Amino acid sequence: MCSDLSMPPVGLGLWKIAPGEAAAATRQAIEIGYRHLDSAADYGNEAEVGEGIASALQSGLCSRDALWVTSKLWNTYHHPDHVRPALERTLADLQLDYLDLYLIHFPIALAYVPFETRYPPEWVHDPDAETPVMQPAPVPLAETWGAMEALVEAGLVRQIGVCNYNTGLLHDLMAYARIKPSVLQVESHPYLTQDRLIRCAKGYGMDVTAFSPLGALSYRELGMADEAESVLVEPAVLAAAERLGRTPAQVVLRWGIQRGTSIIPKSSNPDRLRQNLDLFDFALSADEVAAISALNKNRRFNDPGTFCEVAFDTFYPIYD
Ligand code: A2P
Repeated sequence: MCSDLSMPPVGLGLWKIAPGEAAAATRQAIEIGYRHLDSAADYGNEAEVGEGIASALQSGLCSRDALWVTSKLWNTYHHPDHVRPALERTLADLQLDYLDLYLIHFPIALAYVPFETRYPPEWVHDPDAETPVMQPAPVPLAETWGAMEALVEAGLVRQIGVCNYNTGLLHDLMAYARIKPSVLQVESHPYLTQDRLIRCAKGYGMDVTAFSPLGALSYRELGMADEAESVLVEPAVLAAAERLGRTPAQVVLRWGIQRGTSIIPKSSNPDRLRQNLDLFDFALSADEVAAISALNKNRRFNDPGTFCEVAFDTFYPIYD
């Protein structure tokens, strides 16, 4: 089962694709040419994504070796005893016998919730409680990482990495990792460029994947961003789009590629799926890249320090 596939620069982000649409969306993305899928147990659609992958592979749209599949270990499975079962559940749902990349989803360990109780368990420990809250668990990240390394050694995952780590956690991880993390996945877009974090990760030889590469769009429907926060209407973006005859979204995604990150935009719309992959026959000038980078205002949309308090009555900052 050996392949030298490296992570394609554009992947389909599967967060928020409704289970009822996920099989068709996954198959359609592969048909359009996507060869990188960014999944997670927490997205609640892995079984349907698996149906889409199986359908695409059975139809000969591509081979398993040509497809890069990432998934993520959920917070409730950080204890070393739960890491392999969590991965095996993900593999069963995705109908795969290995992953290309398995990531620790958040540097947040939560109390274990058995599969039979609830899957995926999401953030709150007991949704039926009068005041549902998160229940943090005392599991050191180093122990979780050791169990992730064992998955590589068992041949179940090709590479391992982390999401939502800051520089301090990366330095610490590098001090104990026997198998080094190959990828850091973090939120990044023109309003949150994260230059120093990306430089730090690359200095350690990691690839960096930007999630929410279009900025606020995903968060508006969740009430976590305002209408006014769209990078797609910024004059610097519109000027480059006009010059290149491309859409503002393509300009922002191309900016992500040119600064050396891979990107995982989500779309359920076939035209936008095509558009988001069609980024390799044009280029932003150095000035355009600089003008878009200058939009940075360290605006983080996906911040547990904010949403955990609002939604789960638990103050749990990790970036401060
Ligand atoms: P839709 O699924 O209707 O296309 P991100 O991955 O950065 O979080 O962005 C996802 C959001 O951006 C979704 O709301 C998606 O809506 C929208 N989106 C994805 N691609 C484009 C595009 N090319 N132009 C405009 N909106 C897009």
